[in-house]
Order: sequence, then C-alpha cells, then structure tokens
Amino acid sequence: MRTVDLIHRKRDGEELSPEELNFIVGGYTSGEIPDYQMSAFLMAVFFSNMSDREVSALTDSMVNSGSVLDLSSIPGVKVDKHSTGGVGDKTSLISAPLAAAAGVIVPMVSGRALGHTGGTLDKLESIPGFRTDLTVDEFKEILGEHKLAFIGQTPEISPADGKMYSLRDATATVESIPLIASSIMSKKMAVNLDALVLDVKVGSGAFMKKQVEARRLAQMMVGIGRRIDKRVQALITDMNQPLGYAIGNALEVMEVSQTLQNAGPADLTRLSLELAARMIFLGKITKTLDEARELAQSKLLDGSGYRKLKDVITAQGGDPQVLDRFELLPNATGAQEITTSRGGYVSAIDAELIGQASSMIGAGRNVMEDTIDPAVGVILEVKVGQKIDPGSILCRIYYTGDERLENAAELVEDAFKISQQAPDERDLILEVVS
Ligand code: URA
Repeated sequence: MRTVDLIHRKRDGEELSPEELNFIVGGYTSGEIPDYQMSAFLMAVFFSNMSDREVSALTDSMVNSGSVLDLSSIPGVKVDKHSTGGVGDKTSLISAPLAAAAGVIVPMVSGRALGHTGGTLDKLESIPGFRTDLTVDEFKEILGEHKLAFIGQTPEISPADGKMYSLRDATATVESIPLIASSIMSKKMAVNLDALVLDVKVGSGAFMKKQVEARRLAQMMVGIGRRIDKRVQALITDMNQPLGYAIGNALEVMEVSQTLQNAGPADLTRLSLELAARMIFLGKITKTLDEARELAQSKLLDGSGYRKLKDVITAQGGDPQVLDRFELLPNATGAQEITTSRGGYVSAIDAELIGQASSMIGAGRNVMEDTIDPAVGVILEVKVGQKIDPGSILCRIYYTGDERLENAAELVEDAFKISQQAPDERDLILEVVS
C-alpha cells in the first residue's frame, strides 16, 4: 500500500476500506507518514467527504492508535459530555462538576483550542499549577475519589487524534463532518463510557453554519455510539453569538466560577444545566429527565457543583483559590474598549469574528507550535437583543501585547450589528438528536 495512492483515491471521491484507513492512521501515529502527506489526506477528506462506513472505520483506527481505558474498578455509570466547538463555550467546566456532584462518574476527555473556538484543556491550564497531562493511573485515582477528572489525548487515549487535531488546526481542515465526528468519538470510545451527551453547535461561531449540517454531524456521532451500544444524546444549540460574556481562557474560568455560584449569564447557565441534566439522566441517577433537571438545579443552588470543581482543581495540582480570587489567574496588561457611535438594538454579534480576534491576540494558536496566552480575550458588555445608546461600550479586548491589537479590534468592531428594530428572539436549544 502506498500513502500517495490512498490520498489520490480519496481526492477522487473513492471509498477507502477499513484496512486502508488503518494504514494511514497507524502510519501517521507512528511517524512513518509525514505531516505533509497527512495534510493532503485531510484536505482530500474535507473536499470528498466520507461514507458512514468510512467514518466508523476511521474512528476505530483512531481508537486503536492507543488503547481502551479500563475503568471497571470505579463503580458507577460513566458519562462524558463534549462540544463540537464554540466561542465562549465553557459549559463543560460547569455541567461536568454539576453532574459529578449528583453522582455521575465523569471521565472527561477534552480538547484544545481549534480554529477560532476555545478548548477546555487550555481553559483549565490557565489555572496556575493545573495539570491535564495526567498518567492513566492518576486519572483513574482522581476519578475514583472525586467522580470527575479532566484529561486530553495521551499515548493511550486516541494519540492519532492528538496529532491530527493540531494538524487540522494548522491546515484549514477543521470544518469537516467526518473529521469532527471521528475526532470526538475516538476520544470518547477510548474511555469505556456508558453514555455521552454531545453539544453540537450551529451558527456563525460554530464549524457547522447550517442546522442541516449540524443535524448530520449529530446523527453521525449518535450512530457511531449506537453501533457500540452506548447511549448518546446530542443537543443542537445556537452559536450565533458567543455563549456568556467571556471569551478567552482565564476570562472564561472567571465566568465559570460566577456561574457555578449561580451568578452567571442566563444563556450559559441554562445550557449548562440542561447538559448536566442529560448527563444525570443518562447516568441513571434519576428516572426522568425532569427529575434530573431538578437535581442539576439543586447542585447549582447548594454550591456543590462549585465545591466539586474546586476539589478537582486541587486534585489536578491547581490552585482552587482562583475561583474566589480572580487576581490569582493570569491577568492581561491592557484593555481596549470598543464603543458604538449608533444607538438602537444589538441585532447580531458574529461569534466567529470575536473568536478569531481573541485567537489573534493569543487565546488560540496560529501554527501548531504556538503557545497560548491564558490572560487575553474579549469580554462582551452587551448581548443580542439589548438596547444601546450612542457611545455605549460593546466589549473590552484584554491583551498583553499590542502587535495585533489593531487588527483584532477591527474584527471585533465588524462583529456587532446594530439595527433600529429589536431582533426576533432565537432559541438556544434548537433540537435533540438521540
Ligand atoms: N472537538 C473535537 O474534539 N474535535 C473536533 O474536531 C472538533 C471539536
């Protein structure tokens, strides 16, 4: 088998066999297939798509690039949650502790910033001392003790995804349904989960811009789960404006803390509670979804979700005081206000432009080797539908260096649309696929 022939065939829209996909994934993981050939293969998939059979085989090969963790020594139903990627999307850091506080075992395998979207691991690593590079034994120990632990790809957990994910980020091959589905599901299948809740984002700040594409992605992932007998539910949720007000790693940790103390933004709180409720329901802690919703709400109101996150931060080497004393988090050195000269209603906030601006000043990566600046990002002062006067502040950009500030400010200014009529209200949770 020659890699170039497989790239050629995929480029021309042919279906590859499981053995052929295994050859590519295995060869890339071991280093025999170089980045330039894998980049070409990913671009071929991007343009030629894949059949359901190919996506299942690709996912299996990615899982088999590592091993499947045995969590059977930890009693309880194991449920994880994953988002397809959004801007200001910090729900994992809220729904996971709420579900764990309700008794679900949450072995959370997360990703890093991808394209203009943020990553849970980068957010957690903005907490001084926090380690996401746990060994499998450490992961299991923390999970057993606290019912929740956070980890990323390791040599054991879908290492192929670890390499392909960074390569996709740097080669404009992120927005592909088969590549997103296999990336997410390989990480989830590498940990022996019983159930999974997916948040499939749709809109300007998501990789899927249309609901029909988001539905296809959701169906594909639910189908992969069903094939291996896992309970999977996907919510399709609106990402036409950033979720909450904070975008950027440490800034989002602050908003997580406020939300877990029941003082967070309404949209973020609502979605995090619904995701937590579905984790609790699939985790068989309650008999009905409504009971699960009540339980999630009570874990928010009595502060047990908040305490759970603190305990896990401590267990993973981080400083839990950051949740009370935000000055202990990395802080930006400058802030620039973006104001409007027009009054009216905020009719749109293009989440992709805000995400790009935030990434441009250091919250994300431009090339694989880039390091993240945890302190930088954007805090919105307004949300869609809000009435504003001329001169109102729309948002503040927090930065540590000003080389790219001007470009980022232009993107941010373009993101806001002001109209004279109030825009129609849009649902946050659009559809459930199960
Ligand atoms: N999250 C992932 O883990 N992978 C993707 O490709 C997109 C979002």
